[in-house]
Amino acid sequence: MSVSRRDFLTTAVVGSLSFGLHGQGREEQEPRPAGAQAGGKRPIIVCAGNGYNYLDDAYKFLKNGGDTLEAALRVVKGPEDDPKDDSVGLGGLPNEEGVVELDACCMHGPTRRAGSVGGVRNIKNVSLVAKAVMEHTGHVMLVGEGAERFAVARGFARENLLTEHSRKIWMLWKEYHSTDDWWGPGLADPHFQPPALPPHSELWPERLRKLAEMASGIGIEPEFRQSAIWKVLFPPTGTIHCSALNEKGEISGCTTTSGLAFKLPGRVGDSPIIAAGCYTDQDVGSAGATGSGEENIKVAGAHTIIENMRHGMSPLEAGMDALKRIVRNYNSDMNKLRFVDMTYYVLRKDGAYAGVSLWEGYTPDKPHKIAVHDGNLRAEKTVALLKGSSQEFPPFPPIPEDLKKDSEYLK
Ligand code: GLY
Repeated sequence: MSVSRRDFLTTAVVGSLSFGLHGQGREEQEPRPAGAQAGGKRPIIVCAGNGYNYLDDAYKFLKNGGDTLEAALRVVKGPEDDPKDDSVGLGGLPNEEGVVELDACCMHGPTRRAGSVGGVRNIKNVSLVAKAVMEHTGHVMLVGEGAERFAVARGFARENLLTEHSRKIWMLWKEYHSTDDWWGPGLADPHFQPPALPPHSELWPERLRKLAEMASGIGIEPEFRQSAIWKVLFPPTGTIHCSALNEKGEISGCTTTSGLAFKLPGRVGDSPIIAAGCYTDQDVGSAGATGSGEENIKVAGAHTIIENMRHGMSPLEAGMDALKRIVRNYNSDMNKLRFVDMTYYVLRKDGAYAGVSLWEGYTPDKPHKIAVHDGNLRAEKTVALLKGSSQEFPPFPPIPEDLKKDSEYLK
């Protein structure tokens, strides 16, 4: 099935949303390319929704003259330290062998420097390790064992990042997918086939019941069972990105993640790739991504957005254009795009910002959000290119609505 005209928000609507929702309340302070919308407030910090609780502290720090990268790192360190956030740092969902491997990168606008680490084990604050690479080496990126050894040499403590909570979800995935895993054919393979089991197959109730029994046997507490089953069916790529802009117009960004859940060991996604997971240009702005890393790498999403803004697009238009490139890579084939998701967080140097996503949310009740602090702390729904919610790869039909409501299956 191809994407119909109806599936897209029209450019005209996008344009008006861009003007109406973002960049209000501030007169122009910087020369901007022709066609750019009015600017927003400064200072300002934008991030993925899971950074919301850490924005207040970082905003105060920024407002008091703190460095923009330090401010952004204060935000992402929160979820990295939080064992309950299973998308980042300590407690992140592991690879297929049950080992947590983390990726991160950062860019410091004022000094035009970058640092990055990929596939790091045993060190929870990889965003800070990326900064250490930037500050204390002549390199930009370190990976794997070398990155871990560098971190230890710089004084980072080694610790076991696999919490009991994440280990049990991994065990559930392991037991359920005795034959299915991340080995090919992948989504981009010409031989890829959508799942054999149709979304409303009568086999689904039985499958879900089996999963619920397994979850109980593994000892996953009833209150976490439903989300554990969901993560096994739709392995998430949860991540956090943050960009911070100060009063003077200095800007920085960083992105950190435990990457795609149950990935092949050694798989590195978009988050540590400068230009994909994060890109900051002191002359233009900063952008970052959460979502399907493989897809974002192929469109160099964050860099594409910055270049789009450099050439006059608003933050919203720039983000939407990057999303359309992902759609183009699959020739608008909805049988593939339904397994992809992507959210971009875009901040222009004048304080105008946008949060855009391929789909409206991960599930209908969990819309994608951008968290913002410009003196007023808030979380706003992103503007979606496609209507509906995503199912991230690997492909499984959605849990039928009646089963989702029927908690007996999932308790
Ligand atoms: N965006 C995170 C990942 O794909 O690893």
